[in-house]
Amino acid sequence: MKRILLISKDAESRTRIENAMNDEGHHVETVARGKDAVNRMSEHDYSLVLIEEKLHGQKGLNVLKEIKAAGYTMPVILISEQGSKEVALQAIKHGAYDFFSKPIHDEFVATVINRALEKYALEQELSELKQQAADKVLEDEIVAHSPAMIQTMNLARKVSKTDVTVMITGESGSGKDLFAKTLHMMSTRSGGPFVSVNCAAIPETLLEAELFGYEKGAFTGAARQHQGRFERASGGTIFLDEVGNIPMSLQSKLLRVLQEKVIERLSGMSPIAVDVRVISATNKNLDIEVSQKRFREDLLYRIRVFDIRIPSLRERKEDIPILAERFLAQYGENMGKNIAGFDTMAMKFFMTYLWPGNVREMENLIQRALILEEGNMIKGETVFSLVSEENMTRSPDYINAKEKVSSVAEHEEKKLIMEALIKSHWKRQKAADYLGMSRKSLFNKMKKYGL
Ligand SMILES: Nc1ncnc2c1ncn2[C@@H]1O[C@H](COP(=O)(O)OP(=O)(O)OP(=O)(O)O)[C@@H](O)[C@H]1O
Ligand SMILES: [Mg+2]
Repeated sequence: MKRILLISKDAESRTRIENAMNDEGHHVETVARGKDAVNRMSEHDYSLVLIEEKLHGQKGLNVLKEIKAAGYTMPVILISEQGSKEVALQAIKHGAYDFFSKPIHDEFVATVINRALEKYALEQELSELKQQAADKVLEDEIVAHSPAMIQTMNLARKVSKTDVTVMITGESGSGKDLFAKTLHMMSTRSGGPFVSVNCAAIPETLLEAELFGYEKGAFTGAARQHQGRFERASGGTIFLDEVGNIPMSLQSKLLRVLQEKVIERLSGMSPIAVDVRVISATNKNLDIEVSQKRFREDLLYRIRVFDIRIPSLRERKEDIPILAERFLAQYGENMGKNIAGFDTMAMKFFMTYLWPGNVREMENLIQRALILEEGNMIKGETVFSLVSEENMTRSPDYINAKEKVSSVAEHEEKKLIMEALIKSHWKRQKAADYLGMSRKSLFNKMKKYGL
C-alpha cells in the first residue's frame, strides 16, 4: 500500500481518484489547500502527490513549485482544466512527472499513477544502494577502530545526510581533507561535484575572483569570463580549506553568499543562485581569531553550525598499528618491496611517539623507512633515525607550557633510552652501562615509557 497526497477542492475528482486508488490498494489523503499539503508532507512520507490546478485562492502550479523547492523527490502530477495546455507544459517544466487533463479517465489515471509509483520505488532503491556502496568504500578507506574515531565517524555519518554547514577541526595531518571528501561522498550530493579551495594557498588578491568568478574585462588580464569555484560546486559541495586564512575584506562577501545563496561575479551584472553545501576546515582556533578581530564572529556562526573535531593520532592509539600496517602494505606494494611487518621496537616507538604531524607524518615516515630498509622487517633503528630531532621533542601546541617542559624532558630521556637499547641490541645491562644508570632504574624507566 502506497500513501498518496491529493490536493483538491473538487469533490468529484476527489471521489474518482480515491476510488481508483483504493481499487489499486493505495491510500489517498486529501487536503484542500497548498499550505496544508506542505505541512502534511513535513510530517508523513508520501509516494506520490496529485495537485489540482484550481485551488482556493491559489494555483496548483505554485504549490508544485513550492514542493520542488523544498527538495521533495517523489513524483508530482498536476490535474489541469480541460484544454489548458499551457499549464500542463509549465507543470512539466517545473518538475512535474506528468499531468492529467480533465475529464479524468479512471483507467488512464490508474495506469499513469502506478507507473509513477513504480519508477519512484526503483529510484529510491537505487539511491539507497548507491549510498550503501559509497559508505562501504569510505569505511574501507578511513581507519577508525579507536573509540574516539568510531564516535567521530558516527557523527560524520549523521551530519552527512543533512545539508548543514560543517566545520572540521583537527591538528595538521589528522585527516581533515579526507573527512571533508567523506562527508561529501556520504551525502545525497555525492553525484554532484566536490570542489576544494585552499584559502591559504591562493594569494589574497586572487581569492575573490577564484571563489566567485569574473566577467570578461573585469580587470586587466580578464580576457574571458571565468566561473568561480562556488558556481562550479553547484549541486555539490565546496570545501573551504584553511578557512581561517580568508582576509577580512572577503569575509563579509562570503557571509553574504552563505546567507543569500547567491554569488556575484566580479563585474557581474546580476546575482547567480548557487546550490552548494559548505564544508570548511581549519587548524587555527577561530574563537581566538574572533577575539583578536581577525575573523568575523557572524561568519564563524554561519560556517560552524556543526563542528567535527578529528582526534589527534595520540588520542587514538588503537588506530596506530592498523594505520601502520595499511601504509606498509600500500607503499610496500608500490615500491615492489616485500617487507613483512615491524619489529617490536618499531611498533613500541609508534605507540609512544607523540606524532605532532599525525597520520601524514606516519605515512611519510613509513614510506621513507621502506626505502631505507634492507631486511624483511621495518626495524626500530630505521624509523628512529628518520624522526627529526625537532619532532622528537616537539609537543603539540595545545599542551600548556608546564606540561610541555616535562614532556620535552621525558621525551629526551625516552629518546636516549631507546638509542641505548638499539645500540646494545636490546641488552639491558649493556644499555644501562652506556647510560650510566643501574639496571634496575633502566628497567623502571622502560616500564614508565612502555618500552
Ligand atoms: N583515518 C585515516 N585513515 C586512513 N588514512 C588517513 C586517515 N586520516 C588521514 N589519513 C591520511 O593521512 C594523510 C593526511 O590527511 P589529510 O590531508 O586529510 O590531513 P589534513 O588534516 O587535511 O592535514 P593539513 O592540516 O595538513 O591540511 C592523507 O594521505 C590521508 O589519506
Ligand atoms: Mg588539509
